[in-house]
Amino acid sequence: MAGNSFGKLFKLTTFGESHGEALGCIIDGCPSGIKIDRDAIQNALNRRRPGYNHSNDKNVTGTTRQEADEVQILSGVFEGFSTGTPICLIIFNARQRSKDYNNIKDVFRPGHADYGYFAKYGIRDYRGGGRASARETAARVAAGAVARALLESMLPKSEEPFSVIAYTKEAAGIACHDIHLSQIEKNQMRAADAWAAEKMLEKIEVLKRKGDSAGGIIECQITGLPAGLGEPVFDKLDAVLSHAILSIGAVKGIEFGSGFESARMTGSTWNDPMREGIKKSEKTEILNPHFTSNNAGGILGGISNGNDIIFRAAVKPVPSIYQTQNTITKEGKNTEILIEGRHDICVCPRIVPVIEAMCYISLADLFLQNKVAKVSEIVDENE
Ligand SMILES: Cc1cc2nc3c(=O)[nH]c(=O)nc-3n(C[C@H](O)[C@H](O)[C@H](O)COP(=O)(O)O)c2cc1C
Repeated sequence: MAGNSFGKLFKLTTFGESHGEALGCIIDGCPSGIKIDRDAIQNALNRRRPGYNHSNDKNVTGTTRQEADEVQILSGVFEGFSTGTPICLIIFNARQRSKDYNNIKDVFRPGHADYGYFAKYGIRDYRGGGRASARETAARVAAGAVARALLESMLPKSEEPFSVIAYTKEAAGIACHDIHLSQIEKNQMRAADAWAAEKMLEKIEVLKRKGDSAGGIIECQITGLPAGLGEPVFDKLDAVLSHAILSIGAVKGIEFGSGFESARMTGSTWNDPMREGIKKSEKTEILNPHFTSNNAGGILGGISNGNDIIFRAAVKPVPSIYQTQNTITKEGKNTEILIEGRHDICVCPRIVPVIEAMCYISLADLFLQNKVAKVSEIVDENE
């Protein structure tokens, strides 16, 4: 099956289904000598796990399927460092309850990938959504930790440290207003506003009682990224990030900087004015500009301009709702379905680490592409 790989030089392939033996990934193209810490990969996976958060509150947002998601490094790492050969990371599924899915064996769940997979392949692993399941994102998060290690060791050090931070900006119609990034890991919603997080949870609790679900918006901020990342013309930074983020289940839209609001602005209000900045490094003569606004979201012409990269992703309401819905059988006959099993009510907090992982993966790939695109990088290394 094609379409399971992402990236050109840092090439990620994921494999596995929700209720199969295992899922995981192979990363081909990670340079040798990168410190690969299994605990860092495990910590990233723990953040993605259903119901995982730093608060002890009752978990109202997430599914009750509890998986340890223990990662094993099968290859490509020796004595804690990448060897330059394919890195295989594997996570065995432990808590499958496949009988929960017997009632969807011969019918298609509305809002899910079921019918599309059946129409395309004529056969589908119906258990937990099979390959279309959110469990596939565990492999991405594991790979994201490797990409992060690569970037943190290879990106030139700058005054502003490199970081990728995503958070729930809006969920169930409640938006964050008083943004404090320090709040993100302190509430179940991974929202950056403690008051908004409480209101989101209240609304989600009401929806849960009605057997319904909610969507939301995730904002992601990438800081400390040098100018010059992104490839003209089809692999522009915003195009690659969009590909990466829209490939995550339930993500339905993405906008950079002022995004769709740009359509209502004028050139004089949209353009980000540039002022003299600080000298970037000893190696380059180019001065780092200072932008007094960021409507571009840190990308112009598909290439990072040194400003923060800012984007927002729209997340649809979870399709598995506890209500009777109209659908059809495999034979095309009208029927009704009531979905049982363990499901998220709002996936926003769980998508946050997946979005961060896809950013690390995309940036690692573009960073390596930059290395081979620039004569000065090659000359520097030869010196
Ligand atoms: C981290 C994460 C968790 C998810 N959890 C659930 C869930 O518990 N129940 C559900 O119906 N959909 C869940 N989804 C969404 C479905 O996987 C997704 O909507 C479905 O496969 C259809 O794909 P599409 O929405 O991209 O079209 C989750 C998605 C992600 C990324």
